[in-house]
Amino acid sequence: MTIRPALRALAIVLVACSALPARADQADQAAVDAFSAAARRGDFQAVHLQLENDSSLANAVDSYGYTALRWAVNGQHRALARHLLAQGADADAVGADGGTPLHGLCHHDDPELAALLLDAGADPRRANRWGRTPVHVAARRNCGRVLALLLERGGDPAAPTREGWTPLHVARKAGHPATAELLLTAGADPEARDNDGKTPADMLYVRPEVGSLDEDAGRAYQGTYALDQGGGFRVWWEDGLLRLEEFAADIMDPIGPDRFLCRQEPWTVTFTRDEAGVPTEIQVDFLRRSVHGKRLDRAEYVGSAKCLECHFAGGPRDPGMTWLAGRHAAAYWRLATDWSEFLAQRRPQYRDMESPIEESRCLLCHVTGWQKPGTLRQAGWARTEGVGCEACHGPGSKYVDEDVMSDREAFLAAGGVIPDQETCRQCHRRPREFDFEAKWDRIAHWPQDETK
Ligand code: HEC
Ligand code: HEC
Ligand code: HEC
Ligand code: HEC
Repeated sequence: MTIRPALRALAIVLVACSALPARADQADQAAVDAFSAAARRGDFQAVHLQLENDSSLANAVDSYGYTALRWAVNGQHRALARHLLAQGADADAVGADGGTPLHGLCHHDDPELAALLLDAGADPRRANRWGRTPVHVAARRNCGRVLALLLERGGDPAAPTREGWTPLHVARKAGHPATAELLLTAGADPEARDNDGKTPADMLYVRPEVGSLDEDAGRAYQGTYALDQGGGFRVWWEDGLLRLEEFAADIMDPIGPDRFLCRQEPWTVTFTRDEAGVPTEIQVDFLRRSVHGKRLDRAEYVGSAKCLECHFAGGPRDPGMTWLAGRHAAAYWRLATDWSEFLAQRRPQYRDMESPIEESRCLLCHVTGWQKPGTLRQAGWARTEGVGCEACHGPGSKYVDEDVMSDREAFLAAGGVIPDQETCRQCHRRPREFDFEAKWDRIAHWPQDETK
């Protein structure tokens, strides 16, 4: 190594460190991390209650080096981001990677959220630790609407990254011609050269023709894949498309047997199957490196209809009967009532809400698994089931087998849950309004053969 790159690396580290937000004078780290975790899973009510208690949380930095706003924006939790900004969160808070909430936002083509951040003072020119501005991120991810807005609000179409890439280089490398056109219109220089002397045209990537995929073929890939070096990908089927998520969700289009091209990122994805023909490994080729991961044996939600196949014998304490007759099974549809809208309107933090039944802020406790966005759902799961069996007993794919369920230890080892009051308190959060014994009595479905 010559001395120059070493000095440059040192300088970058120093700049990155000096740009880190200070952690002094903030609530204790465990409280901050809990707050951040709530923002990450989009838990509006938890964030709201914690902020009411301690407004300094709005700008507190968690153990990862980020504020809650960054997580809310990364997860595209719009209402939550709006709420955090209204409570004084810094729209331009610099995180551990040197990036700001706008960097996270540019992974989603969400101009409404982008406008919110820009109006609150976010800087579209700020470069992260690798010299990427939000404009670079939007160009790579093909977020045309956000890109147009960034350029209109002062984003720089000529800014170079550490490698000397302008946003136009990035758009060409990712194979997004419309985005490249947009940058050219905004004044990007087609002759700009990177540190190796290459122009955007030298990097041109033409995306191959893509095929189509049916549901059965697509669902076969569904799973969580853990990377050798930590982190991982989720792969799942939703609304007729196969999706991949590391940090922000993308769609995968088939380009060959077990081979896919991401629609937004310039990544190709290849699955490897075991002897039984089941996809068990993933390889993701980024522009300059590849990562590998193995599929984890994680439980997924199967949906309450599956449970009813066996647990529906009739009788007063039968689990299926009790559930269907109770309010949990109707919890989703409750959100469609005028009463729901009325209740929401009475609370200032929900005033902007248009329709509770479409709202994460309400679905959070009115639908199975909404508080666990990382857990995958199989075809049988539907939000219409409301608070289903698996909301309390845990995702069922690994325990639905009769042999597993008849054996308590095997059931627990497969992710099954024998619920207690803590389970209820994930949703019934006001201690004074929730007397476990009395409430449980109303929905008790065990023991089945005893009459009370
Ligand atoms: C933190 C969890 C949680 C969130 C978030 C939540 N609910 Fe509920 N909701 C509950 C629980 C628990 C009950 C049952 C309370 C009870 O009656 O003991 C309930 C009951 C209701 C009821 C029936 C209550 C009645 O008086 O008839 C309505 C309507 C309702 N929620 C609407 C909403 C709407 C609209 C939203 C979004 C603005 C929402 N909920 C968000 C947990 C939640
Ligand atoms: C609101 C939460 C909740 C929901 C929803 C729920 N259960 Fe339960 N279930 C419990 C609790 C709590 C127990 C009692 C656990 C204990 O203390 O043994 C229980 C017990 C059971 C048991 C007996 C377990 C044992 O100890 O032998 C079965 C079987 C069962 N549930 C099946 C179901 C099925 C099937 C559904 C859906 C139709 C369902 N449950 C929905 C909370 C729930
Ligand atoms: C193929 C039939 C079948 C299906 C499907 C099924 N169960 Fe069971 N389940 C059983 C049998 C059999 C037992 C053991 C006898 C009993 O407790 O009734 C059992 C036991 C349980 C228990 C008590 C576990 C223990 O070890 O004490 C729970 C809780 C439970 N089931 C919940 C569910 C849930 C939730 C689903 C849906 C995700 C489900 N079951 C789907 C047949 C089934
Ligand atoms: C995933 C969130 C969630 C969990 C977990 C949950 N509940 Fe509920 N519960 C709700 C919602 C939402 C309602 C309101 C449904 C409605 O009225 O439409 C509700 C309503 C009820 C009701 C009827 C309203 C009332 O006050 O009589 C009872 C009883 C109840 N829950 C008991 C429990 C018990 C006991 C547990 C734990 C074993 C539990 N719940 C776990 C979300 C949850």
